[in-house]
Amino acid sequence: MSLQDIYRGKKVLITGHTGFKGSWMAIWLKELGADVYGYALAPQSEMDNFVICDLEKQINHCEGDVRDGNKLKDYFQQVQPDFAFHLAAQPLVLLSYQDPLGTFDTNLMGTVNFWEAVRATPSVKAAVNVTTDKCYDNKEWVWGYRENDPMGGKDPYSASKGCSELITNSYLESFFKTEGTANIASARAGNVIGGGDWALDRIIPDYFRAFKKGEKLEVRNPYATRPWQHVLEPLSGYLNLGAELFVKGKEFSGGWNFGPEDMSNYTVQELIDEILELDSTGGYNIPSNTVKLHEAILLKLDISKAANFLRWKPVLSFKETVAFTLKGYQDDIKIADLNLYQARLKQIEEYTEKAKQKSIQWVI
Ligand SMILES: NC(=O)c1ccc[n+]([C@@H]2O[C@H](COP(=O)([O-])OP(=O)(O)OC[C@H]3O[C@@H](n4cnc5c(N)ncnc54)[C@H](O)[C@@H]3O)[C@@H](O)[C@H]2O)c1
Repeated sequence: MSLQDIYRGKKVLITGHTGFKGSWMAIWLKELGADVYGYALAPQSEMDNFVICDLEKQINHCEGDVRDGNKLKDYFQQVQPDFAFHLAAQPLVLLSYQDPLGTFDTNLMGTVNFWEAVRATPSVKAAVNVTTDKCYDNKEWVWGYRENDPMGGKDPYSASKGCSELITNSYLESFFKTEGTANIASARAGNVIGGGDWALDRIIPDYFRAFKKGEKLEVRNPYATRPWQHVLEPLSGYLNLGAELFVKGKEFSGGWNFGPEDMSNYTVQELIDEILELDSTGGYNIPSNTVKLHEAILLKLDISKAANFLRWKPVLSFKETVAFTLKGYQDDIKIADLNLYQARLKQIEEYTEKAKQKSIQWVI
């Protein structure tokens, strides 16, 4: 069975559908033939992917706060979804230092309310909580973290996501293993990039904001390395995981890593240089007083479990990741003469085609 066979005609409820990942996921699911329902706060800017793709007209959209457990539960009862994906969160590390209370409130109680809503809605057969690679206790070692490594997190965002994982595991052990019909899991992925992300204080959105204004970006952290991943990579993991939970059941419960390949860490400078190889009209400056500081060893995800049991692995090489990302932003910038929804669909189709060419089969 293909992803289309599984999701076609099913009701899928996504929390956080007005955000970067959630909006791409809504488009992909709609393309697979699902009936998509979203619950989230209103989009934050006119450039949000949700807005520029005019998603409000394409899917069922409900504005609501995940901290409002009753409203979320009522929405689940009204929709009676087959699948539920929890992406609504306060996702920024910097903001979590400014607002730890709001971050913990949204990321912890939002998760509790999500699982309470799933528990109260027997139509849900498969549900996935989306967290992050930062949920692990970072021991600064060079090996990838496995799903059974301890949770941790020093900054409020990372700690809140470690807690969200613990909450999910507690609901699994206490309720979903013994009662109800939902099979549940959590998904951990790293930093993602792609068209439609205009969040503040992220290097790629910052680069394209400067590019739009005809300015050069001042890169203060050129030597920082990151595990760059296109947004479609973790989304293909979430969709596969949801499908396996739906078709095969509880053996797919628990945590799953959806990170990049081991050797795919590049510096910020290498990433921007790669963009400039493809489109030399942008540019950047490195301030003359920049020094190469010691960086904490990057937290890496071991993806053997997903590769072995879900047959999932990243599809795009570093060069392809950059090309997909650049195309996404070029589409965003041409907004006036482009149907952005169709442009996103085209990228999803190209990504799916590349997966086929590389013999990555998303079938159950
Ligand atoms: N973007 C990344 O690089 C990345 C990396 C790892 C994990 N994640 C995780 O993926 C998920 C989605 O991230 P994103 O980058 O799309 O973030 P985003 O900020 O673009 O979107 C967040 C979504 O959550 C919603 N939301 C926030 N607070 C809410 C509340 N109180 N009630 C209801 N909805 C609320 C927003 O309205 C929005 O729809 C998050 O759980 C995030 O932690 C993201």
